[in-house]
Amino acid sequence: MNGQKTVWVTGASSGLGLHTAMALRDDGWRVIAGARSFEDGEADGMVRLKLDVTDDESVRRFCEKAAGIAMPDALVQCAGMLVLGSCEETTVEEFRRVMDTNYLGMVRMNREVLPLMRRQGGGKIVLFSSINGLMGIPFQSAYTASKHAIEGYAECLALEVKPFGIQVMLVEPGDHRSGSDKYRPHAASMTAASPYAEAYGSATARIHHDETNGSDPDALGRKIARTLDRKTIPFRKRIASLDQHLAVYIHRLLPAKFNAWILRKYYIRKKKEA
Ligand SMILES: NC(=O)c1ccc[n+]([C@@H]2O[C@H](COP(=O)([O-])OP(=O)(O)OC[C@H]3O[C@@H](n4cnc5c(N)ncnc54)[C@H](OP(=O)(O)O)[C@@H]3O)[C@@H](O)[C@H]2O)c1
Repeated sequence: MNGQKTVWVTGASSGLGLHTAMALRDDGWRVIAGARSFEDGEADGMVRLKLDVTDDESVRRFCEKAAGIAMPDALVQCAGMLVLGSCEETTVEEFRRVMDTNYLGMVRMNREVLPLMRRQGGGKIVLFSSINGLMGIPFQSAYTASKHAIEGYAECLALEVKPFGIQVMLVEPGDHRSGSDKYRPHAASMTAASPYAEAYGSATARIHHDETNGSDPDALGRKIARTLDRKTIPFRKRIASLDQHLAVYIHRLLPAKFNAWILRKYYIRKKKEA
């Protein structure tokens, strides 16, 4: 790389955000990392700044401090969470929390960063979506809706900012063994008394199994770092196992009722009669 480039990374205290930040650092980028659990300072070869993407003022302060250190050649937005629960029992407040973090968090960051990138004549914006940005699975509706929102938003954004030399990339990870249960709370009303309890137990066990046996988060970080080094980046980068790639294609090709049958079979297993 000619001259050190700078990347700002949100949600960089754990999971895929941390792995991506470390891969970019190892690749020679100056990394300015943000998360709520950070105190301002330096650690592990990265600058750390406190950041809550749900708070306008925190986002503004983060961008002001980061810009005082180095302008962003790239912005990678990984901050995210999900709430597991049925559509019926997940509260509006729980939906709002997920949307505010995953989707509006990106909107807030971009509103601060786009003027900087426009003024410097370009930049790269990476938005973490998910396979769930392309297809829904049971009991992840708040998360799935937020990732679908990101997909639609990114299409509009890319069209608008291209004339300013700004490129947008959606990263669509499949299951990776990186996520922490801390960011995957159950909706408060998902108790044993729920009418969905049996299906919910089956689906969440499957979700947990797939994630803990998922792909390598280091490899994802390295793929993103390699891609960001290119002059031109793709609009979509799906990073998933072969069966998850296939699931997306099948979802596109098959009529909705066959998709629903496959997904119900996969996620919702009935307990055998004793
Ligand atoms: N893991 C997977 O299999 C998978 C699959 C598809 C997509 N993804 C996406 O990849 C991204 C990372 O997920 P993960 O599961 O790897 O990580 P994770 O361990 O769940 O970490 C989430 C990160 O987001 C940060 N965060 C949460 N709320 C925040 C807020 N309000 N402001 C700032 N930062 C906040 C957390 O840091 P603090 O608590 O310190 O703020 C943490 O660094 C997410 O966008 C997720 O949707 C993950």
